[in-house]
Amino acid sequence: MHKQIAIVTGAGKGIGKAISLQLINDGFFVVLVDADKTCGEKTAKEIGKTKSVFYQTDISNEKQVVQLFQAIEKKYGNIDVVVNNAGIIRDNMIWNMEAADFDLVINVNLKGTWLMCREAAKKMKQQNFGRIINISSRAWMGNIGQTIILHQKLV
Ligand SMILES: NC(=O)c1ccc[n+]([C@@H]2O[C@H](COP(=O)([O-])OP(=O)(O)OC[C@H]3O[C@@H](n4cnc5c(N)ncnc54)[C@H](O)[C@@H]3O)[C@@H](O)[C@H]2O)c1
Repeated sequence: MHKQIAIVTGAGKGIGKAISLQLINDGFFVVLVDADKTCGEKTAKEIGKTKSVFYQTDISNEKQVVQLFQAIEKKYGNIDVVVNNAGIIRDNMIWNMEAADFDLVINVNLKGTWLMCREAAKKMKQQNFGRIINISSRAWMGNIGQTIILHQKLV
């Protein structure tokens, strides 16, 4: 039996950290991915080297995502589960919102998740096995100050 490898994005804190802890409890070795080095390293230290490793990666950066998958493949071989949890919000009333905030949210939540799915799919197709889990939000149903998320779900 090979070691089961799971990648979790946004694993440095919050929901991503909780998902990582549960996967470790279920017997997985977890690759903790986060753009924030401080919280990623802190979580990796708490969990320990035998159960996890931290990779600082911005999921909206194509080059970094490709390098992440190359590095994991080289080191561990298989990639069994990918949890796309990393996401950001820039909540504001639409009339106060900058287009740059729209671009930022779309780049992380939509393009970043897609980049992770693309690289995971390449590997999982080759393995003939894999699971991709994308964490969403019910904010697409309509919340005050969350027009970006609403539009993200409409495209
Ligand atoms: N907290 C909620 O109530 C709630 C509700 C619905 C959906 N969600 C979704 O669940 C997910 C996690 O939410 P949370 O509350 O734990 O968030 P959080 O802000 O506590 O943690 C998100 C983590 O993602 C990391 N991150 C941000 N941008 C990144 C990037 N470009 N590349 C890699 N990592 C990045 C952050 O550094 C952070 O560690 C998000 O996608 C969020 O939209 C959360």
